[in-house]
Amino acid sequence: MANVIITLLSLIVLFSILKVEGRKTLFSRNSDQDHEFLTFYSAIASDDGICKSMVETQGYTCEEHKVTTEDGYILSLQRMPMGRSGKTADKGSVLLQHGLFMDAITWLFNSPDESLAFILADNGFDVWLANTRGTRYSSGHTSLTPNDKAYWEWSWDELISYDLQASVQYVYNHTGQKLHYAGHSLGTLIALGAFSQDDEVLNMIRSAALLSPIAHLNQIPSPLTKFASNIFLANDLYWLGLREFIPKGQDAAKLLEEICHLPGINCSANLMTLFTGPNCCINSSRIYVFLEHEPQPTATKNLIHLSQMIRTGKIAKYDYGNEGQNMQHYGRPNPPLYDMTSIPNDLPLFLSYGGNDMLSDVKDVQVLLDNLKDHEKDKLDVVFVQDYAHADFVMGVNANQVVYEPMMAFFKLH
Ligand SMILES: *[C@@H]1O[C@H](CO)[C@@H](O)[C@H](O)[C@H]1NC(C)=O
Ligand SMILES: *[C@@H]1O[C@H](CO)[C@@H](O)[C@H](O)[C@H]1NC(C)=O
Ligand SMILES: *[C@@H]1O[C@H](CO)[C@@H](O)[C@H](O)[C@H]1NC(C)=O
Repeated sequence: MANVIITLLSLIVLFSILKVEGRKTLFSRNSDQDHEFLTFYSAIASDDGICKSMVETQGYTCEEHKVTTEDGYILSLQRMPMGRSGKTADKGSVLLQHGLFMDAITWLFNSPDESLAFILADNGFDVWLANTRGTRYSSGHTSLTPNDKAYWEWSWDELISYDLQASVQYVYNHTGQKLHYAGHSLGTLIALGAFSQDDEVLNMIRSAALLSPIAHLNQIPSPLTKFASNIFLANDLYWLGLREFIPKGQDAAKLLEEICHLPGINCSANLMTLFTGPNCCINSSRIYVFLEHEPQPTATKNLIHLSQMIRTGKIAKYDYGNEGQNMQHYGRPNPPLYDMTSIPNDLPLFLSYGGNDMLSDVKDVQVLLDNLKDHEKDKLDVVFVQDYAHADFVMGVNANQVVYEPMMAFFKLH
């Protein structure tokens, strides 16, 4: 697994470090670049929502939508119904689901020729962007606020049974048609979880693209990951009463400092590489844009659930840690498993993974592919990119040619 704790740590590290270094660099930049940076700041300060700040500024039509989940979370969705040319989409709808610590801006912060959301719109798709509960633009609830502990009582089980369900249902209702799905990282785990057990969602999906898929988390390639799963980091935070995990915060910085003092960990080396793998193709000048929007908070319980996957190697529901509570929630002493082999063999799946991705480890992806070995051949398309690491799939400047073009070809076939 490398994966989840690594995802957790990688993002904390990535963002706390880059944030500091970014600022230092910025102050010594020339005035043109400073101006560019100030423009970003004011765009953000206005807090107009994703359509106004990230989509319309690029000359695209964008609609803000809201959907309420069955457990009361009010999620925002952005829709791009047409490309730059103004021609109405005729290739069907696609719902994009971001990963951990991210929001829909994941799909928007490179240029329109490099970012998946714009590329899909320009290629005739009706694009819908999902935002997970707890992120900046999905922080509403019918009775709670993010200041309430109860607001953060969820893990990716709830993202499967409520958020994904609501977003898919909303797009389906709105368009009257089945939709394509594309997810990155945690956005793939929740899709796989849903496809393995939820006929209602399956009946609304035409096909799904899984970028940097996360399912099995058995491989532990680095001393860091081993350490992280051993001390069961997230649990500590949880029991200290920290229900909301803000990766930019003081707690993240403290955590990082502790990690850097461990034997075998060299925090002077390139930390982003240490955690995510060496991303080949990210435009470093876009990192500043990225850092102004991300990372987004998540529930500590979600991180605990992910670290349970690393420790047990199982794709299972959240483990309450004692038989009594598991009985109460599941009617059995152990949490039920998500069975990847029960994903229907005729569900069109496009899967792309990278040779340098330390979060979606090649060996873990092989286990997933093995689960899918009975899948109908023309319903499973696998694109392996040797030099890609985790973030290249959403931030890579050449991702269009390498990943998105074959993905769109797959969508058009299904
Ligand atoms: C979708 O439509 C059904 C039937 O009209 C309705 O019951 C449901 O609440 C709608 N769901 C969403 C998420 O829009
Ligand atoms: C840590 O990495 C830096 C930069 O790559 C290197 O100069 C330093 O010698 C390394 N320290 C140790 C203890 O390996
Ligand atoms: C990298 O980003 C900068 C600033 O946004 C842009 O001018 C440049 O063309 C980008 N380079 C590539 C290869 O996309």
